[in-house]
Amino acid sequence: MTARTDIHVVVNGVAYRRAVEPRMLLSDFLRHEIGLTGTHVGCEHGVCGACTILLDGRSARSCLLLAVQAEGAEIATIEGQGTQTQLGRIQTAFRDHHGLQCGFCTPGFIMAIADMLAHHPLESDAQIRDALSGNICRCTGYQHIVNAVRELANERGPLP
Ligand code: FES
Ligand code: FES
Repeated sequence: MTARTDIHVVVNGVAYRRAVEPRMLLSDFLRHEIGLTGTHVGCEHGVCGACTILLDGRSARSCLLLAVQAEGAEIATIEGQGTQTQLGRIQTAFRDHHGLQCGFCTPGFIMAIADMLAHHPLESDAQIRDALSGNICRCTGYQHIVNAVRELANERGPLP
């Protein structure tokens, strides 16, 4: 049996301590160890963006990280963005612009957009599309997502 390593993380403001196998992926840790199944897993090799989370405030692909690499980190997942009865701002924009299609990719988009709104200029649709290019939607309905991000970027205004 593989030796386990103790890790401590804070996820959506809640502290967790778990002993994990060194090879456990962060995506599996979030989904199977602490039960946050909103983080979806698609390609499992860093291409689709479905597993995107925020790691210490920056977007990261949880399928490309080991849980032990997140030791001491603050993590944000889709569960921290809102609830069924109280949607977060990005979720509301998706709803209003019909950005929610089959929804498999949506948690990854929303977490990537949380990072984009904090760090990317998003001054034109071309910049928005470029920023979104790491997240794949198989429904091919990017226009609605772009419209949602445009509204959020306009609301935010220019970055300082
Ligand atoms: S599941 Fe992580 S990038 Fe596709
Ligand atoms: S809504 Fe993105 S894959 Fe369907």
